[in-house]
Amino acid sequence: MNTAPPGTLPAQTVTTHLEIEPSILYFGTPVVLLSTENQDGSYNLAPISSAWALGRTVVIGLGREGQTAYNLGSRPDLVLSLPAPAQWPAVERLAPLTGRNPVPSGKAEGCRFEPDKFAAAGMTGESSDLVRPPRVSGCPIQLEARAERVQPDVRGDFVIVEAVVCKVHADSRIVVPGTDHIDPAAWSPLIYNFRHYFGLGPELGHSYRTQTPRNSGESALTDLAPD
Ligand SMILES: Cc1cc2nc3c(=O)[nH]c(=O)nc-3n(C[C@H](O)[C@H](O)[C@H](O)COP(=O)(O)O)c2cc1C
Repeated sequence: MNTAPPGTLPAQTVTTHLEIEPSILYFGTPVVLLSTENQDGSYNLAPISSAWALGRTVVIGLGREGQTAYNLGSRPDLVLSLPAPAQWPAVERLAPLTGRNPVPSGKAEGCRFEPDKFAAAGMTGESSDLVRPPRVSGCPIQLEARAERVQPDVRGDFVIVEAVVCKVHADSRIVVPGTDHIDPAAWSPLIYNFRHYFGLGPELGHSYRTQTPRNSGESALTDLAPD
């Protein structure tokens, strides 16, 4: 009987690695919803998963033909809203939509223009404090930021954005009370894992560098519902 936790490979005495050519290398990163400003002053919303933080800078990878890349090339304000796992259906409603009209030829088959992606996803915006695009209501973490550098990637297919976060909003339910710490036991990102959606499993351990107070609630809010 396999008693390993879900997602753990069964024990083998000899491991075998195959040489494969997968079409994508999306090995499991959090989903981020990017709000940016369109040329006419309306706002675009796009899910991405190519994002990671280096201190206060978030590095983002964008298809160069998308509306988000186009917007950030001329209007640097953006918001990164991080949805909870329970919000994955709304994220997936955004998947076949672009704010670019006409739809660029390089977009995936079935992609269509949508001028109001907030409404199409069933999401609502709320005002940001320091930047023009709105935050996504109900997302437990919302980062107001400005794109400080926008440049092509080495092969010319993508745009690499370096965005500096200027304000952090966190749902009170994922903050260790009385501190500035996100409680890792309460917050679960929505993970995009080879184009499938997952939440986090239970905690396995922690880094020697953790600064989070330990007596926080243990409930992982993977079902955190929007307010
Ligand atoms: C979960 C998820 C993750 C995605 N990750 C990225 C990404 O990291 N970079 C990117 O350019 N597109 C990504 N996409 C695709 C874009 O959302 C898609 O191209 C969309 O049409 C972009 O909208 P826009 O053209 O209005 O900017 C992702 C889509 C989904 C559903």
